[in-house]
Amino acid sequence: MPKDTLSVIDNRTGKQYELPIESGTIRAVDLRQIKLGDGDQGLETYDPGFLNTAACRSAISFIDGDKGILRYRGYPIEQLAERSTFLETAYLLLNGELPSAAELDSWVFNITHHTIVHESIKKFIDGFHHDAHPMGMFVSTVAALSTFYPEAKHIQDETSRRNQIFRLIAKTPTLAAFAHRHSVGLPYAYPDNDLSYTGNFLNMMFKTTEVKYTPNKTLERALDVLLILHADHEQNCSTSAMRGVGSSHADPYSAMAAAAAALYGPLHGGANEEVLRTLREIGSKDRIPAYIDRVKRGEFRLFGFGHRIYKNYDPRATIIKRIAEEVFEVTGKNPLIDIAVELERIALQDDYFVSRKLYPNVDFYSGIIYEAMKFPIDMFPVLFAIGRTPGWLAQWQEMLLDKDQKIARPRQIYTGPDKRDYVAIENRG
Ligand code: ACO
Repeated sequence: MPKDTLSVIDNRTGKQYELPIESGTIRAVDLRQIKLGDGDQGLETYDPGFLNTAACRSAISFIDGDKGILRYRGYPIEQLAERSTFLETAYLLLNGELPSAAELDSWVFNITHHTIVHESIKKFIDGFHHDAHPMGMFVSTVAALSTFYPEAKHIQDETSRRNQIFRLIAKTPTLAAFAHRHSVGLPYAYPDNDLSYTGNFLNMMFKTTEVKYTPNKTLERALDVLLILHADHEQNCSTSAMRGVGSSHADPYSAMAAAAAALYGPLHGGANEEVLRTLREIGSKDRIPAYIDRVKRGEFRLFGFGHRIYKNYDPRATIIKRIAEEVFEVTGKNPLIDIAVELERIALQDDYFVSRKLYPNVDFYSGIIYEAMKFPIDMFPVLFAIGRTPGWLAQWQEMLLDKDQKIARPRQIYTGPDKRDYVAIENRG
């Protein structure tokens, strides 16, 4: 008997089947041959939330959740956070290799020269209510970009794809900063091409009356590293949305708006916002045990804890804790860090969290840094979206070039009524 197969006996019929095993998986469609008879469509798998279903092959990021390992294109996240820049990491994710010096120069030049958005975008943003959530404005304006670049729908055209990738990576900080300026009633600050990607974002966020904004080097680097940490994370909820919408061959702006919308949820990228609210609500260390008791009673979840894949410390959370110290040297300590550290200490000694392998995830400490850097809380998911943009685009491109991929269209187990006849309204009970 060949080794790489799975023998399955259908006890309903007594028939045996041999299913090939490849890369530790069986193909779900191979189960279709397992039928009761001619009218039967064959066996399917039931996997709500895709707990155990690989939807693609991917060469972009690798996670070993038990060991707490994350790599982009093979490079450990710790090394990229230490030595790379966000734009270099974006190039790596999209192209598979680190760039040469000339490739990096050209890449950075192209991103830098696509940062300006059409003036009409400002009119969309102006139309939002003053207290509109910036993530809502971000999702909408990313989608709106597709109307400015109708050629983006030529998704099979490599040149067009490359141009939209430049635009999306370049313009997301501009859209994010404009959304913020609208919220706080400040005039929009235009991109400054003399600055780095992250330095320019800080400029567009925080510039007031100075002629030239000069970002603080420590904060600029800290933010750049935070963007690196968020750049990709295999088939998470928002990336699956990007691939799912992209699989219908929608343009990348529309697909990325869907991905950003998925990120907005508090179980995903919106968790960083919730963590800050939690820490503020707890307010002091002595109130932590009572808060943990409420989590254990199932009243609510502890945001920033737990992960579908990591059943060990999230390696990004370790790096973020280190960055927090560097940032606090410039900004002064955010007092919430003491509550967060104590909350983590108490949780990680508690059987509820230990037995469920619930550790701090990337969102647990990121918000404390963002707050120290003066980002408003509702900007936190938007910052996540800027960081995740190259990952979404790399996954979208990989999906389009993958001959195995088709339009995403899961099956269902129908649980509704059997066929019945229409009842006239006067005869309904
Ligand atoms: N607080 C309290 N209990 C939790 C938490 C939490 N944060 N997370 C999971 N649990 C418990 C669940 O209640 C469940 O317990 P049970 O077995 O007694 O029913 C068990 O742990 C398993 O939880 P699931 O919901 O099955 O885990 P899943 O893999 O589906 O969810 C998720 C992962 C969504 C991240 C979850 O841990 C969570 O809601 N965390 C809080 C939100 C958060 O921080 N999200 C950010 C994730 S990282 C990111 O997206 C960037």
